[in-house]
Amino acid sequence: MNQPKVFVTRNIQEEGITKLREVADVEVWMEELPPSKSILLEKVKGINGLVSLLTDPIDAEVMDAAGSGLKVISQYAVGTDNIDLVYATKLGIHVGYTPDVLTETTADMAWALMMATARRVVEADAYTRAGHWKTWGPQVLLGEDVYGANLGIIGMGRLGMAVARRAVGFGMKILYYGAHRNLKAETETGAAYVPLTDLYTQADFISLHCPLTPETKDMIDDQAFTMMKPTAILINTARGAIVDQDALYRALLTGKIMAAGIDVATPEPLPMDSPLLTLDRLVITPHIASGSVRTRTRMAVIAAENCLAGLRGETLPFCANP
Ligand code: GLV
Ligand code: GLV
Repeated sequence: MNQPKVFVTRNIQEEGITKLREVADVEVWMEELPPSKSILLEKVKGINGLVSLLTDPIDAEVMDAAGSGLKVISQYAVGTDNIDLVYATKLGIHVGYTPDVLTETTADMAWALMMATARRVVEADAYTRAGHWKTWGPQVLLGEDVYGANLGIIGMGRLGMAVARRAVGFGMKILYYGAHRNLKAETETGAAYVPLTDLYTQADFISLHCPLTPETKDMIDDQAFTMMKPTAILINTARGAIVDQDALYRALLTGKIMAAGIDVATPEPLPMDSPLLTLDRLVITPHIASGSVRTRTRMAVIAAENCLAGLRGETLPFCANP
């Protein structure tokens, strides 16, 4: 019996691995850090299925190294900007991804960063632990209101919509901009489609929910920050490279905006000597927006199901090829 060979680039939840092992000869990279490029090139030789993470650059070189037996690349993420989709499609390799399942979990995280930055939760925690809590003070650690504020959403897809639905409960006025109008979001949440410059000038919170593409790379630059309110707060749970990070540093340092909450950076991990890490008004988390136990388990199962469908030559349940 010739079982198909699958390489999994990290130790994902066992519910997914178990499903793969039922039919395939599975090798799992068990280290904490991703396989290096040279190890990846070695490990993919002769495989039929690859389960990849957003930390693995899956380019033409990797696909060529795998050889003609590679039928499916199944990404354990919704974003696929680490994969050369055009080349995969040209070779007839199916590419899977895990949309939908992580939408609400990621929207929760965007919300956590909004609340944390607006109400200075991380600073306040440090303040308290450092022994600065002497009394109740009328001027202590004042922040900005979330309730009733203007929320600007860039990218009104599944994620943008999930954030917008939460904003309805917070009485927020929702403005959005994106490659596509979303009439469902407009009807359900009252969101108004506006030119990007209006979003920049009017929003109290700007939350990014667009994919990283050549059009969105460095979209939030010096010019964008200059248009924002001095009390504006930028939230990024999408991809680090959508924001010009040097411009973000300058904007926070000079008070062009009030704060930023970011779950993504360039590069990842953000180097410990990054000047961003010296700023109190930055709340940063290590790309954990989809990281609930339930969602990561479901992502592992979907990645396995996509991989298995690809091995059988069937259409993937969630296919990212154009
Ligand atoms: C996380 O960033 C993902 O794309 O799933
Ligand atoms: C992003 O994945 C979106 O669906 O908006």
